[in-house]
Amino acid sequence: MHFLNNLVNPESGERLTLLYYLLSFVSTMFVTYIGIAATGSTLSLFFNRKGLKKGNDIYRHFARNLIDVALPGKGVVAALAGLPIVTIILIYAELLYNTNADVTNFMTASAILVISGFMFLIAYRYSFRLEGFVESYKKLTPSQKSEIGDASLVDLDAMEISAHQTRRRAGLFGTAMLWIGMWVFMGGSNLALNSQAWPQDAGTFAVLFSWTTIWSFIHFITAAVVIESAAILFFFYIWDGGVGAANNEAYSSFVKRFAMNAGLLFAIVQPLIIFIDLTLVPSAAKDGAVFGLAGLGLLIAFVLVHFFYRMLRLRKVYLGSFAFIGVVVMVGVWMTAKGVSFSKSNQAHYQLMADNYDKMLSELPEVQTAKISGEKIFTQTCSACHRFHNRLVGPAYNMVLGGYEGKMSKLEDFIMNPRQVLQGYPPMPKQGLNQAQVKAVAEYIMNVYQTEEKNGTATYTK
Ligand code: HEC
Repeated sequence: MHFLNNLVNPESGERLTLLYYLLSFVSTMFVTYIGIAATGSTLSLFFNRKGLKKGNDIYRHFARNLIDVALPGKGVVAALAGLPIVTIILIYAELLYNTNADVTNFMTASAILVISGFMFLIAYRYSFRLEGFVESYKKLTPSQKSEIGDASLVDLDAMEISAHQTRRRAGLFGTAMLWIGMWVFMGGSNLALNSQAWPQDAGTFAVLFSWTTIWSFIHFITAAVVIESAAILFFFYIWDGGVGAANNEAYSSFVKRFAMNAGLLFAIVQPLIIFIDLTLVPSAAKDGAVFGLAGLGLLIAFVLVHFFYRMLRLRKVYLGSFAFIGVVVMVGVWMTAKGVSFSKSNQAHYQLMADNYDKMLSELPEVQTAKISGEKIFTQTCSACHRFHNRLVGPAYNMVLGGYEGKMSKLEDFIMNPRQVLQGYPPMPKQGLNQAQVKAVAEYIMNVYQTEEKNGTATYTK
């Protein structure tokens, strides 16, 4: 991504730190939402197939609701997937400015996969509508059909079959692309943690098939099931009145049982996953905070286990909102731990960048003072009213500057904010110069005065 290097600038230390926070924040959004979308579409495919095979309407209904929750609309996809991944790419480009790390390439590949995946899934989602239309048309009585018009030209069965085929294909492609996209995402974010691997240009396959990446991907899959379970409970029953699951008793209890069991099971394995995660942190990225965050992650996992267990026992969704907030926090902690490890592993480079920035800054004033010439300011501004040897509007400098010798700050102060001082002169108007300009002109006039004084030419007329 060389062109990205041209977009970014050396950053100050403070702004760099801010970027790590931003990275953790947008990654949390991204990972949570892709978790819902990938698991939701996978389950939707599974239940759709099962429902068609067994002629089970509950399964098919579930399949449809799952994809509705996973893809509420294109705007949501853009806001929760598109925007975050683009931000992530830019932040990595900025933070890894001038390193050899390929992280942005991984993230860009991930973005392409995920976004194309969503396009297929949107088609998958629409195929349910098409099917719904065909089905409701088929249910019409012959007289109703003839009222609408002659539909014998439309081969409904062919249409239905093609809807099923499109659905299967689009669903499979889309789902696979989301999962693969996340695998690549984990590869990139792990590469970012391992600064020792940057210079050697690790190679795409080595990164993707490294044990750490595979493990992170497993972590994501299991976390995604917990996220999706909480999301089902939250979006099917609580958010905005739910998707209507509560209306049908059999359906509702099936969905509840499914989500609560899946959530419980996969929340139970989270502590083990987090523990193994810790052992895989590269040495360059080990930091006390990472352990603290892992502890926090464990705690949240236990709380989630508790929530799912309580709900399962009572068969009530009453903790659904808390469970959903819990999973978002869980992902947040995970992404923050990654961010901390990244900043740790990136420290040497970070220092270099911050130093570069400081250097750039410290060079700036020099450039500026070179431009600010006291002599120029004198000729352009002050000389309208001042000479060294005689009175003009203002007094001769040679008359007044003796009083400021060794008191440069007082002189600068006067030039900055002139006050009435001498009898028989009007007050000097404020000149509107900045600090650096005032300093330059004060030094200049004092220099000229002192040189003249030394040479005995510092004469003046009143
Ligand atoms: C519009 C006319 C005008 C301009 C332009 C002007 N001055 Fe003055 N300056 C005066 C007058 C009038 C006084 C006398 C004010 C007084 O004594 O109250 C004065 C007084 C001074 C004094 C003497 C202060 C003292 O303690 O006696 C200094 C030093 C001085 N000016 C520096 C400057 C410098 C440097 C500039 C340019 C950045 C400048 N002036 C531009 C009109 C001007």
